[in-house]
Amino acid sequence: MNQMRLFAFDFNGPAHLSAGLWRHPDDRGNEYKSVQYWMEYARMLEDAGFDGIFFADNNGYHDKYQGKVDGALRDAAQIPANDPAFLIPAMAAATRHLGFGVTSSTAYDHPYTLARKFSTLDHLTGGRVGWNVVTSYSDSAARNLGTGTQTAHDDRYEIAEEFIDVALKLWEGSWDDYAVERDKATGTYVDPSRVHQIGHEGKHFTVPGIFICEPSPQRTPVIFQAGGSPRGVALAAKTAEAVFMNAATKAGLKKQIDALRAKAVEVGRDSSHIAVLQMITVISAPTDEEAQAKYREYLEYVDYEGAMARYSGWTGLDMAQFDPDEPFENVQTNAGQTMVDFFTKIDPDKRWTPRDIAEYNGIGGTSPVIVGGPKTVADELISWIDETGADGFNISHAVKFRDIQDFVRYVVPELQARGAMRTAYDGDTLRENLFGPGQARLAEDHPGLAYRSALSAKGSLSTTP
Ligand SMILES: Cc1cc2nc3c(=O)[nH]c(=O)nc-3n(C[C@H](O)[C@H](O)[C@H](O)COP(=O)(O)O)c2cc1C
Repeated sequence: MNQMRLFAFDFNGPAHLSAGLWRHPDDRGNEYKSVQYWMEYARMLEDAGFDGIFFADNNGYHDKYQGKVDGALRDAAQIPANDPAFLIPAMAAATRHLGFGVTSSTAYDHPYTLARKFSTLDHLTGGRVGWNVVTSYSDSAARNLGTGTQTAHDDRYEIAEEFIDVALKLWEGSWDDYAVERDKATGTYVDPSRVHQIGHEGKHFTVPGIFICEPSPQRTPVIFQAGGSPRGVALAAKTAEAVFMNAATKAGLKKQIDALRAKAVEVGRDSSHIAVLQMITVISAPTDEEAQAKYREYLEYVDYEGAMARYSGWTGLDMAQFDPDEPFENVQTNAGQTMVDFFTKIDPDKRWTPRDIAEYNGIGGTSPVIVGGPKTVADELISWIDETGADGFNISHAVKFRDIQDFVRYVVPELQARGAMRTAYDGDTLRENLFGPGQARLAEDHPGLAYRSALSAKGSLSTTP
């Protein structure tokens, strides 16, 4: 079988998706401010052969529950939240192969500054960085960073499309491969004839000039994307190299993957040039019984308010308006209908109450949870891949560090013994981790490459090709 791609899914704060679990005695979330913690984490993942670590991020906070942020603050529900980008050079210094996926929004940044930030990271990591393109969903971010109210959903995607275009022009088109001569004899560091103005003039951005960074090992960071709406899928089909999905069931995941791959083919891309990662939480131990006992113990820590603070933030609904023990049905929301409908999709015969949702969400958010010893977990992971066509997983946790450490201890050796996971790296960059040695740069069918030849041939471009 093909080896699966594996990322650890994390957040630069004390707690991510699981509610109340930061109170568990083994939880190490409070160490998020320590660079040594992240370096130890990176070394552990690389020793195990992970493709990378993937950081979620959000410019906003959850303040929909009871119309205030109190519940989120009490449970550290994705707040406090430090910037993940600053962790990357330290984690890179502790490793040689591990990749780093960093979430960054197109809603509150400028493509020029974002492109510079990711080029810098790609240089410092030797080509091991990826950008998870998100369009943002929190009203609190819009209030604090934006225009006060959130830009409409599809308009956010329209901005994202142009944003990515500008960044691709900067990364791929502005500097030729041999622009940097560093010739002490002639006194030429950079050959000006090999640096091109991108001449971008669009609806949302005007960037006439040249890029300020020289090309990094990957030039363009690996482009990740996670939005599942029709606009999100269209964006992924056109530009993503890895797509992060969160399906409730294998059948649902297969449907999403088939739709994405069909769309990619429609726009002229080889669908195997997109790696699909499913979010999954794994609670493992030496035996099934011990893993089940651990899961039952974790459930004791789930915090109702913390789970509802997150769920209210994701859906845009104030869950405090519903009785915790009454079925939660036929609710409409503009913000996150997918999240509301999610539970009926998992089990259409069950009448989900807010308390059921909190219990489900409390461990690993809305991701499916696998509980078991090495064989059970490996069987289940392999069946998710075999039945859906996914390429791998973003592995989430309940107890910070410990669950990933247990995954490394118990599950990784089983996956490796079955040939389902790498035992050694055969490339140097994140793109090579995902697609094989020699694939450090964008694949030839990626639209970013068109900017390389177009800008190089014309000297400069005045319109979007
Ligand atoms: C698995 C998964 C992970 C996501 N992680 C983040 C994140 O870290 N930060 C963020 O702002 N949005 C995140 N999102 C939200 C999406 O990127 C997107 O902005 C949101 O889902 C709305 O787009 P959509 O309507 O196309 O789904 C995530 C979505 C999914 C499905």
